[in-house]
Amino acid sequence: MKILVCGKGGSGKSAISVLIAKKIVETGIVYVLDADESNRLLSKTFGVEAPDTLGNFFGGRKLLKQQIVEHEKIKLSELPEDYLKLTKEGIRFASVGKIEEFGEGCACPYGFLSKELLKRIVLDEGEHLIVDTEAGVEHLGRGIEEGIDAIVVVVDPTAESVAIAKLLNTEARRIGKPLHIVINKMTEELEPILKDMLRKEGLRPSATIPYDPIIFRSSLEGRQNEANEAIRGVETLTNLLFSQVGRFPSPS
Ligand SMILES: Nc1ncnc2c1ncn2[C@@H]1O[C@H](COP(=O)(O)OP(=O)(O)OP(=O)(O)O)[C@@H](O)[C@H]1O
Ligand SMILES: [Mg+2]
Repeated sequence: MKILVCGKGGSGKSAISVLIAKKIVETGIVYVLDADESNRLLSKTFGVEAPDTLGNFFGGRKLLKQQIVEHEKIKLSELPEDYLKLTKEGIRFASVGKIEEFGEGCACPYGFLSKELLKRIVLDEGEHLIVDTEAGVEHLGRGIEEGIDAIVVVVDPTAESVAIAKLLNTEARRIGKPLHIVINKMTEELEPILKDMLRKEGLRPSATIPYDPIIFRSSLEGRQNEANEAIRGVETLTNLLFSQVGRFPSPS
């Protein structure tokens, strides 16, 4: 199963990616692909040092466009170990690439690489891939979604998040991919208001994850995201993903 995690900036995409990965690795092999070209500490959120990037593996910014298309199928298990860092739970963490310097130019080569990678990555039975994306809606426009099985949209309690979820939902329908809305950082007071806003937009949440101070604190301390109250919502989500992907078999 290949899952794309997207949504508004700061909504909790990375935190939820960590928690999904931790849940799925209990029963399978999990790869996480950091497809965020800007944020630098994602590997810390997973509790590992940053691996060398797949951008470098495919020849660096200048050559990657030529080199990636020469690989019809990519097996993540065959990547050299410098490009995959193993968390203490056994999650295999890879990174597409980061803008390293001011004035380096736009991140387009990495967007292209993410798209081509997702099309070409072949998963074996029992292997799963979670792609943590950069904020916004452009991933779907870029065509990254071609190779994926399901989209998870993280919605925090803001009007902006709801607007982005609406756009992503429209695009997911157009391209025929199942989309799950996950409400995140929810509080008792805000839950009915946000659910009502989503309902008015024709959006139904698949799972709700409460505001969990343990997640927040682990991010502040720059260590692996841990959760307490959030776990139940994550289980609801992963159960749904597994039942649904039964109906939407992976192209690989
Ligand atoms: N359920 C939650 N409860 C409390 N804090 C949370 C929760 N989910 C995420 N956070 C906190 O919200 C902040 C943003 O989370 P995170 O970095 O995962 O968001 P993101 O969507 O990946 O951001 P970006 O768009 O920058 O990639 C972090 O401080 C994180 O600890
Ligand atoms: Mg993030």
